[in-house]
Amino acid sequence: MIKGVDPTPPIVELSPKSATGHYASVNSELTSTSKSAAIMEHTTVMLSEAVQALAVKSDGIYIDGTFGRGGHSKKILAQLGANGRLIAFDRDLSAIESSKTIRDARFSMVHSHFSQIKAKLAELNVYKVDGILLDLGISSPQIDEASRGFSFRYDAPLDMRMDQSSGQTAAEYLAGTTMQHLEGVIKNYGEERFAKQIARAIIKERDDGRAISTTGQLAKIVAGAVTRFEPGQNPATRTFQALRIYINQELEELSLTMPQCLELLSPKGRLAVISFHSLEDRMVKQFIRQHEDVDNLPTNFPVRAADLPQPKLVSLGRAIRPSAEEVKANPRSRSAVLRVAERTLVI
Ligand SMILES: C[S@@+](CC[C@H](N)C(=O)[O-])C[C@H]1O[C@@H](n2cnc3c(N)ncnc32)[C@H](O)[C@@H]1O
Repeated sequence: MIKGVDPTPPIVELSPKSATGHYASVNSELTSTSKSAAIMEHTTVMLSEAVQALAVKSDGIYIDGTFGRGGHSKKILAQLGANGRLIAFDRDLSAIESSKTIRDARFSMVHSHFSQIKAKLAELNVYKVDGILLDLGISSPQIDEASRGFSFRYDAPLDMRMDQSSGQTAAEYLAGTTMQHLEGVIKNYGEERFAKQIARAIIKERDDGRAISTTGQLAKIVAGAVTRFEPGQNPATRTFQALRIYINQELEELSLTMPQCLELLSPKGRLAVISFHSLEDRMVKQFIRQHEDVDNLPTNFPVRAADLPQPKLVSLGRAIRPSAEEVKANPRSRSAVLRVAERTLVI
């Protein structure tokens, strides 16, 4: 749990009208249409680096925890032999739909949050695996499809759920939250210095009887509350990111999942995580460090590492970042950080 943010979203019921109805006062820069399906591809980030990090064994069992449009999955499948197996997860129904193009007996797709990884794998009689990849965050199709409500570039109902089949939308959250809670979300997940002003403006709009139900409406309120922002960046960038992380409980998902990965990995199995947010990357780094460093006792403590349970993970190299060429070709990769760890032989 992140300091200052209650992970349990207050649940409220919205009338159908307020959930989807309000389309007034649209910022003139906004458009109500999304990009064409042709552009809604996802360019896989650090494709070679991430799959190489897994050191795919031809008969191994691998997990792609974040299928997206299957870029990493397809490369893993290409490296597996006839007896290998790949099980992919995604909580997004469009990702599940797109996985249907992979017709391969070695491949299974699971519609689930990856925090359910152990239980879902047990349903498939899988208890140990050779590698797990998590490519966190959202996919380009999620951002680029206006109706998903992730982007301030389009005007659409304010949804922001990766899993369209469950949980509360961002509009529902804003209808029921308190100013203090909202400020905590924007400040902690968006690292936004105008969190207080933004929260105040949003709550005022709502309490004046105008439900915050579209991305355009939210972007406009935020723009009015932010007096300074990075050049070239939309003033609503950090607020949208914060709400998305909160609505999808992204950090909680990660913290629930990494310990399960540790239990699932066979000796020499690999965990590779690509993060896009400093809070995520810090969690990954600390998790690996916590399980590889058993000798973090005070120097005068009369027991040493050799006497203690041995480390379960070893970090493989430093953090890997996308190459300059990749960032140039795909600017969305610019904040990516890949960390890789290997399970030791310790049971
Ligand atoms: C960055 S994209 C992955 C792209 C993928 N590696 C590719 O090459 O196409 C992240 C995907 O993970 C999914 N996702 C994010 N958090 C998740 C979670 N906690 N459980 C399951 N899926 C999740 C999102 O729905 C999205 O489709």
